[in-house]
Amino acid sequence: MGDLFRCYWLPVLLSEELPEAACAPVRVKILSEQLIAFRDSEGKLGLIDEFCPHRGASLWFGRNEDCGLRCPYHGWKFDVNGQCLEVPSEPAESGYAKKIKLTSYPVIERGGVIWTYMGPAERMPEPPEYEFAIVPDDQRFVSKRFQECNWLQAMEGGIDSSHVSWLHRGDVKNDPLFKGAKGNQYNMNDLAPVFEVVENDGGLLIGARRNAEDDQYYWRITPWVMPCFTGVPPRGDHPMHGHFWIPVDDENCVAWSYDYHPVRALTQGEVRAMRDGKGVHCKYVPGTYRPLANKDNDYLMDRNAQRLGSTYSSVEGIAIQDASLQESMGPIIDRRKENLVGCDNGIIMARHRLMKAARALRDKGTIPPGVNTEHHKVRQAALLLKRNVPYKEGAKEALKARKGVPQTTV
Ligand code: FES
Ligand SMILES: [Fe+2]
Repeated sequence: MGDLFRCYWLPVLLSEELPEAACAPVRVKILSEQLIAFRDSEGKLGLIDEFCPHRGASLWFGRNEDCGLRCPYHGWKFDVNGQCLEVPSEPAESGYAKKIKLTSYPVIERGGVIWTYMGPAERMPEPPEYEFAIVPDDQRFVSKRFQECNWLQAMEGGIDSSHVSWLHRGDVKNDPLFKGAKGNQYNMNDLAPVFEVVENDGGLLIGARRNAEDDQYYWRITPWVMPCFTGVPPRGDHPMHGHFWIPVDDENCVAWSYDYHPVRALTQGEVRAMRDGKGVHCKYVPGTYRPLANKDNDYLMDRNAQRLGSTYSSVEGIAIQDASLQESMGPIIDRRKENLVGCDNGIIMARHRLMKAARALRDKGTIPPGVNTEHHKVRQAALLLKRNVPYKEGAKEALKARKGVPQTTV
């Protein structure tokens, strides 16, 4: 599965973490590799092995100097490609420095996110074209948080839209980024959605159907693009959000959350709410990307709020409600003990497609779905359809990312 991830551009840092040329380097752990990201004095981005090849000091302590990062221990210096530029103790004419090169990965910046590609050079795909990443900057907000469990169980929570009517019911009513949509009533009036999952070129479309007036259904359709991109169906004219889950190692991941509106700038109020941890975002331990409510403080549970009905699980905020339960399963859930039911169909099919793609890559070198940027151009949708209309037909246009066209939403 690690090799599968190495077929894609992966989000690695927020642009705000490397805000300017020659700023402080940042430690990155991704796919179990410990790396250092930095922006050199000319503004070029680099992602290189964390440890100095001399005697292994962490280059996080590096000095960001003229066009390179210098290990403060004995002064070896490296450029953004990991090439050693200077070994001060050796005569320059020996050419020793030239022979030293650190592992490094290409990086690009797009949509407020720094992305890396960690696979073989000859397979490097086109840069990602998810709609959130290509709308103008003022139409988007992106955040990330560390999560203490395997990426897949976090992602499974993201494609399981049946929990919304339970776990998040207080927030759907009250959160400034969710409330007021007509669709919320359909969500609350029918607690037993019927799931219809269909294959799509890049992954799956996970449709959840609830009863609505007359002979209509209220459909919420979540696209899942391999290996780990999702879009949560919209509510009213609120910005649309979704997630990626990127493995740090087998037992930790980074949960990325984006919000964007396809045709208008986010309002100041919306951005303020997002920064304040509303919607799918969260509050942090100051100076970190660890959620303020975390495993070590029992997610700041408030049983009284639960009794009064302002939260359903006694944990505040959608992101941490999800994280708390996903982490509560342990770092890697033992799936032999599960009892899956109809509403878990999306999860079952996503697992199946991931396994199939990982095996095809290993056995035949097949490039997996979701690498082709055409697969990125899907959009989540919420809509009413006549009961006899299959959603793949009825929502066909709504599910396409189309520049300048508003989302389809109820
Ligand atoms: S350990 Fe980095 S220069 Fe010696
Ligand atoms: Fe959730």
